[in-house]
Amino acid sequence: MLIAAEPLAKVKAARSAARDWRLGRLDHRFDMAMPDRPARPDCPELLPPNRMPKRGKGGSERGRTALIHALAHIEFAAIDLAFDAVGRFGGQFPRGFTDDWMRVGADEAMHFALLDRRLKQLGSHYGAMPAHDGLWDAAAATAHDPLARLAVVPMVLEARGLDVTPATIERFAGVGDTATTRILTRILNDEIRHVRAGTIWFESACERHGFVPETMWQDLVATYFRGVLKPPFNDSARDSAGLTRGYYAPIAVS
Ligand SMILES: [Fe+2]
Ligand SMILES: [Fe+2]
Repeated sequence: MLIAAEPLAKVKAARSAARDWRLGRLDHRFDMAMPDRPARPDCPELLPPNRMPKRGKGGSERGRTALIHALAHIEFAAIDLAFDAVGRFGGQFPRGFTDDWMRVGADEAMHFALLDRRLKQLGSHYGAMPAHDGLWDAAAATAHDPLARLAVVPMVLEARGLDVTPATIERFAGVGDTATTRILTRILNDEIRHVRAGTIWFESACERHGFVPETMWQDLVATYFRGVLKPPFNDSARDSAGLTRGYYAPIAVS
């Protein structure tokens, strides 16, 4: 599915790969070369973050639609991230790793499909606006090291989603948009599971190598994550994902 460009083709490929794996139709074999960059559709136009049009903080319907579009784009990129982890690192872990990331990939495809359907209900669609080019950077930077990938993608980026999603849910709830509120609540619950999978596999790999997980994570984040970790943190969601304050509190900026 990394070579599927069109959104619907990618969603279908993601779901069928996850289903085939679940049904035992795929071998636990990882000798396929992974593409450096996954295929992308012609639209949306991808812009560097500093050239993205301002979405504005206002409560306009247009602003909210742009926000849903941005979230759909993140989910679209997350499909590729999940299957890239399977193809690139699956062979270095027990089968359960592939079980988890196949399921994550299927979840991301579902999240994208739900948001894209919502955009259509609002008279828009995925691709109608420009999107952020840069979501693959974290994948490219960590393509050689499964510990670095787990440290940055699920345990920093997806964990960030846990921090910001409750406020986004509030924003849509505040204008009575229950359809979007419901979708985002489902995404938040699924993402706790994704962060948990990341943390569990990170800790098991650390244990195998005799590393202390928290300090190893802090080193990897300092090396491979270009942003900073800042509050507010959703401590309770992070905690239920196993990502305790012992990981992030020591390196968070206030
Ligand atoms: Fe997601
Ligand atoms: Fe996710």
